[in-house]
Amino acid sequence: MRKVVVSAHPLVKHKLTLLRDINTPPKQFRELIREITVLLAYEATLDLETSPVDVATPLTTARGAKLTEPIGLIPILRAGIGMVEGFWEMIPSAEVWHIGLFRDEETLRPVAYYNRLPVHPTVSVCLILDPMLATGGSAVKTVNILKEWGAHRIKFMGLIGAPEGVERLHSAHPDVDIHLAALDDHLNEKGYIVPGLGDAGDRQFGTG
Ligand code: PRP
Ligand code: URA
Repeated sequence: MRKVVVSAHPLVKHKLTLLRDINTPPKQFRELIREITVLLAYEATLDLETSPVDVATPLTTARGAKLTEPIGLIPILRAGIGMVEGFWEMIPSAEVWHIGLFRDEETLRPVAYYNRLPVHPTVSVCLILDPMLATGGSAVKTVNILKEWGAHRIKFMGLIGAPEGVERLHSAHPDVDIHLAALDDHLNEKGYIVPGLGDAGDRQFGTG
């Protein structure tokens, strides 16, 4: 059984409030997604493994640490793209493997349209990036894809989750940690998170 972490960081709460605002334009929306992702990345990577390494300072030798696990970022297209830059600021060496899914508007089920994962896993830790965990269908499908690929350590990083989506992802994949900036109230009849922020893809790309 893994964990569900909702950030309590005041900066996350402040920036998320701006992100939700209907008057926030796409440029600022994209900047906020990047900034919040930096803060969430800090929390989601607390358990990464390191190995000891010596470094020469101007005075002497100091014992330091270096990351040992290859990290993979898995942004779910489209909206997950906006979270990549923030994560790369923390871990520039992270590989990025895109997964393309959209929700069928009638059934709310995820439809897969893009996957260029190589035959064998090239990373030890996979971080799925998607701002919205609504019904959880897209997240569960992405974890299924990654597990079929051979990934073992998988985390989900989102900005806003609905209780329904958290429950569904957690039930289907209890081994996957979930990191969120906020856990909202419920889904409406169209599968949108309430209060939410609207359509995360449209608001980033100005397509709403
Ligand atoms: C949004 C969001 C998630 C999905 C969440 O994508 O970015 O991928 O919905 O919903 P779920 O938890 O109910 O599956 P959308 O289908 O709107 O595609 P887009 O990012 O291309 O706009
Ligand atoms: N996808 C979004 O972009 N927003 C929601 O509220 C739900 C799914």
